[in-house]
Amino acid sequence: MLTNLQQQPADALLALIKLHNNDPRADKIDLGVGVYRTDSGATPVFACIKAAEKKLLETQDSKAYLGPEGDMGFVHALMPFVFGKNDPTLGGRIDGMQTPGGTGAVRLALALAKRAGIKRLWMGTPSWPNHAQIVADLGLELQGFKHSSKGGTVDMDSLRFAIEQAGEGDAILLHGCCHNPLGIDYSNAQWDEIAGLLKAKGLLPIIDLAYQGLGHGMEEDAYGLRRVLAEVPEALIAYSCDKNFGLYRDRVGAVYVMMESADQVQAALSNGHALARAAWSMPPDHGAAAVRLVLEDEALVALWLGELDEMRDRMRQVRGRLAAAGTAGTVDMIPFGSQNGLFSIVPLTPEQVLAMREKHGVYMAGTGRINVAGLTMGNIDKFVAAVADVTAA
Ligand code: LMR
Repeated sequence: MLTNLQQQPADALLALIKLHNNDPRADKIDLGVGVYRTDSGATPVFACIKAAEKKLLETQDSKAYLGPEGDMGFVHALMPFVFGKNDPTLGGRIDGMQTPGGTGAVRLALALAKRAGIKRLWMGTPSWPNHAQIVADLGLELQGFKHSSKGGTVDMDSLRFAIEQAGEGDAILLHGCCHNPLGIDYSNAQWDEIAGLLKAKGLLPIIDLAYQGLGHGMEEDAYGLRRVLAEVPEALIAYSCDKNFGLYRDRVGAVYVMMESADQVQAALSNGHALARAAWSMPPDHGAAAVRLVLEDEALVALWLGELDEMRDRMRQVRGRLAAAGTAGTVDMIPFGSQNGLFSIVPLTPEQVLAMREKHGVYMAGTGRINVAGLTMGNIDKFVAAVADVTAA
């Protein structure tokens, strides 16, 4: 029976981690999976997390089960940062639960949508490959539309057309900020329009906010989410702390449900609890507990926000250097300067991506996606020269 299970290809993005580790070249460059790196190429544990972990070690007196919702102190402490300090629950209309990372949050949001009767999901493409994978695994129908046009701007016409074509009762998945893989985000004015269109059409927005704070700032990066929530009656929000707290392998995420009225929230969430129980029972505690301890302590919040500022500044600096290069071979580097977050796509063919790896030791996703945080002041010139080399006629 089990021989029916055919060999599957390894996840292309995660496979890069091993390929890069096995490359003996000292000047290799890892631009693969999305982890932040300092200018010396390290991915250190945040100082605020180290301090919180120390506290946790000293004060945690039990590791008994918490339940499928995880650490609700964490879930609630995050809400003012995500939904705004004024009224983070929007009058009790929003509540959430902890998930294993951003992937767990997306999985649970989509499973909840399916349970509620959603059959079709609209999504701008390209998107994070795991989005489509989860949609397929849940048996939802996926309808794509073009996220951006040539020249690196959002393709609003495609989005408008998709919303027009969508049926009432469909869902739409939007990246809250720092689009993965394009780094091309909606402007505030575009979010204003999108919020109105979603409201008029009655689409269920599912907003994936996995990089808050890595684009323009914690408040700035929440503009679109908050704008949409102010208009529509219901929404699902998938949140990740894996990047903005540097907790990748600890898997820290949350899913939030916004309902039309406060008395509907717990019924909706109880479905999340049931789905979680059947999938992972309850999320891992450690990382979320550390985030809670950061968020409950003003001094640690200040330390955290400072660390986020530093990350963002460095990524802006790298992006500035790329843009300053002008062109590399046939590639226009200027748009990378104004894109946001960890990712951008270098328009390379699969053969050119392979040549980047084999000839130059530069590891990037097959789509040409780069993690800009993998570039440093020490390797950026080599990267630009490699792009020029592989795209030379
Ligand atoms: C990425 O896209 O590199 C990250 O979101 C990590 C992942 O899980 O794919």
